[in-house]
Amino acid sequence: MSDAVRLEALRAEALGCESCVLSSRRTHVVFGEGNPKAPLVLVGEGPGEEEDKTGRPFVGRAGKLLDSALGDCGLTRDDVYICNTVKCRACDWSTGRPVNRPPTDEEAAACRQWLFPQLAAIAPEAILCIGAPSAKNLIKRDFKITRERGRFFPTELCRVILATLHPAYILRQQGATSDGGYSMLVADIARGWETAVKLRARGSTRAGVEVAPAQLGLEL
Ligand code: URA
Repeated sequence: MSDAVRLEALRAEALGCESCVLSSRRTHVVFGEGNPKAPLVLVGEGPGEEEDKTGRPFVGRAGKLLDSALGDCGLTRDDVYICNTVKCRACDWSTGRPVNRPPTDEEAAACRQWLFPQLAAIAPEAILCIGAPSAKNLIKRDFKITRERGRFFPTELCRVILATLHPAYILRQQGATSDGGYSMLVADIARGWETAVKLRARGSTRAGVEVAPAQLGLEL
């Protein structure tokens, strides 16, 4: 089975997932989209209201900012692959109305059955975690986003992994005198992309040719 076929089979299976409580209130499973052979995968936290409605990742206000940052790097969504650590919207329903909340550790753990094979099928050279929850989930539990964003970390999931600020956070920080960290988001996407493309060009792990990131002058 080719990687693209494997990815679509996985999506079909994930659409019926009932492994955690998030399945009971979701409208759509937001599996992910983009280039199934992308050298760089962006992994966000989880779908919000717009994503739950449409079944597509990063389509709300934060998504528009992400599109703009990709554009500032000369990229579109079709160059990369975009998904989330959890595939269903996490909400607090205690007031009777849905209020977005971060996914619990149990929910994130349950969703690894989809995320990890998804990443394996795409086989990117680099992963860019979008926001602290994704970085804590995929890099290390005590990840400090303001101090450690933009740095490469070793990982079993691909060649290198790094994290950047979440566009929703940037939107909250933006003001008359501050871009809220938007330039950091652009710089981190550019760094992740350029590194991923270099690593792919020098020989991918899939072809069985290893190039240590240090050989490319990357700091780990
Ligand atoms: N925030 C995320 O982390 N992911 C989305 O898909 C949308 C908003």
